[in-house]
Amino acid sequence: MKNRKKNKILVTGGTGYIGSHTIVDLIDNGFDVISIDNYMNSSPDVLDNIEAVTGVRVKNYNADLVNYSATKGVFEDNKDLIGVIHFAALKAVGESVEKPWEYFYNNINGLLHILKCCKDFKVPNFIFSSSCSVYGNTQQLPVTEDTPLQDAESPYARTKQIGEEIIHDFAKAHPQFNAIALRYFNPAGAHESAKMGESPTSNASNLVPVITGVAIGKREKVTVFGADYDTRDGSCVRDYIHVMDLANAHTKAMQYVMKKQNKKNYEIFNLGLGQGATVLEAIKAFEKASGQKLRYEIGPRREGDVVAIYANTERATQVLGWQPKRNIEDIMRTAWAWEQARSIPA
Ligand code: NAD
Ligand code: WQD
Repeated sequence: MKNRKKNKILVTGGTGYIGSHTIVDLIDNGFDVISIDNYMNSSPDVLDNIEAVTGVRVKNYNADLVNYSATKGVFEDNKDLIGVIHFAALKAVGESVEKPWEYFYNNINGLLHILKCCKDFKVPNFIFSSSCSVYGNTQQLPVTEDTPLQDAESPYARTKQIGEEIIHDFAKAHPQFNAIALRYFNPAGAHESAKMGESPTSNASNLVPVITGVAIGKREKVTVFGADYDTRDGSCVRDYIHVMDLANAHTKAMQYVMKKQNKKNYEIFNLGLGQGATVLEAIKAFEKASGQKLRYEIGPRREGDVVAIYANTERATQVLGWQPKRNIEDIMRTAWAWEQARSIPA
């Protein structure tokens, strides 16, 4: 029998895209999970989806992390937490350029409040959702964790750079606290069951939801943002990582700090597939996985896009023992199955 009390994790942003898939992987690995999410970018239905997949009803506290007393109340209610995985944040790069204050207010206050609770309630293990956007417009490929960070290209990216710095200094001052920042590249795909996946807003602009949105008929065609770059086919290169592989990295990182295998009390890991795919290759992978042709056109470059970025993930492989099991076709197959499943009227 597992000792449930010893394995209780708080996931913030637990009804969001990556948080919900991580909850499934944590439950599959014997953890007890609670969540905080105020549904500002998700809905309570996700708790039903998690239950449909795992058979477990996860308790979510509908609390805003910016509200310190509400956040503290969750820790008072759960004095047996062993760790926190902090996903909750605003994440739309373009919107952050329009609304920088909202991004700093939400993402930085949320982080500060969670860290204060970890300190006051002596919760020793902490994982932070960071992003490849901290690297800025880097020329050094593949990107390792030691690649120097360039200026942030957006207020969103700056909240991640500042977040990492806050955790760095906090961990230095609190030697018993173990923190990990995971820098995700391009998360995509859905759970194999097609019972849960990404539910982006209608104006979402990430490539994979755009592709499945076109295939299902919600959008007319995919516009490839530039095919005149200096890459193998002229379109931009990214490192697409399956959300369930990403989810499992959180479980592995939590087990790693719980077993005190970490050498320093703040460590950083890249999470990607470790190889790049162009936009046109992503479209081909979708066509292969779905067996259908996709309507697309070559359009102008999108402002702010880097030409190419992909990860060196050796550190996560060697230190955490993490290995992605799915490739870009698996991403497209599962994203497509989820798009079809959620488009069927109930
Ligand atoms: P998401 O928007 O689907 O999930 C975030 C969740 O946090 C949402 O359910 C939202 O309601 C909740 N939330 C936000 N602010 C909150 C607050 N103040 N109080 C309570 N709940 C709040 O996003 P996601 O794609 O699952 O991303 C999770 C994390 O990973 C974020 O920190 C994001 O910046 C980071 N990340 C995402 C990507 C990506 O492409 N999806 C890439 C790199 C990093
Ligand atoms: C992928 C590629 C586009 C849509 C963003 C954030 C990053 C991280 C991950 C949070 C690019 C091309 C896209 C379309 C296209 N998030 N594209 N037509 O911009 O790499 O990364 O999400 O931390 O910080 O910036 O992701 O999915 O928008 O684009 O040609 O309709 O697809 O140009 O090359 P991006 P994306």
